[in-house]
Amino acid sequence: MARHVAVASPKGGVGKTLIALQLAGHFAVRGERVCLVDHDPQGSCLIFGKVATNANVELPFVPTTAMVSGFDTYIHDYPPGLADTYAPCRIVVVPTLLDAASYLVHKRGLRHFQDLGLRVIPVAQRVRTDRKEQRDLLKHFQDGVVLRDRALYANCYGKGLTVASARGLPHLGLAQSEIERLAQAVDGGGK
Ligand SMILES: Nc1ncnc2c1ncn2[C@@H]1O[C@H](COP(=O)(O)OP(=O)(O)OP(=O)(O)O)[C@@H](O)[C@H]1O
Ligand SMILES: [Mg+2]
Repeated sequence: MARHVAVASPKGGVGKTLIALQLAGHFAVRGERVCLVDHDPQGSCLIFGKVATNANVELPFVPTTAMVSGFDTYIHDYPPGLADTYAPCRIVVVPTLLDAASYLVHKRGLRHFQDLGLRVIPVAQRVRTDRKEQRDLLKHFQDGVVLRDRALYANCYGKGLTVASARGLPHLGLAQSEIERLAQAVDGGGK
């Protein structure tokens, strides 16, 4: 049976699309047939597909706006906000930035996703430990998933690559380990 993973948050600009792309790249390079479903009218995943085409990069996954059958794993990139249903997803990845206002909204989002019966994977996003406010909020993510603020992620987007298939860029190994950890959390509790 196919696995469906949502990436969603009540907040905009927290890295949902980045995470959806990186997860799609990771699972695809691991050998799964991956479909990236773009639910956002901004079409950021589709734009990534165009960037890749222009850079002569063959994407290891298929970005689309419609549900297409025949894939092992579907990653669903949602626009900001809370929907009434994320069916057929049973897992949701929920990124947040580490500032007080974002974290409050994030917690409201977590309650909503839990009420819908989804398995929730919170992710601390764009983390900078040189900032005290972030260090304090990071305590809520002990043993959780943390993605640091890395120019590499945006650089990869501009090249039509994900860190799983990029080569020879600075800090690549560190970014790959972060995404690996995220993928393990998604793999963690079944479908
Ligand atoms: N860990 C990170 N390090 C550096 N830059 C990042 C990181 N995560 C996201 N970004 C950058 O932050 C910006 C917003 O990310 P992204 O578009 O993925 O957010 P989003 O939640 O999908 O936004 P929207 O709500 O508009 O859909 C992008 O320019 C992205 O490249
Ligand atoms: Mg987005």
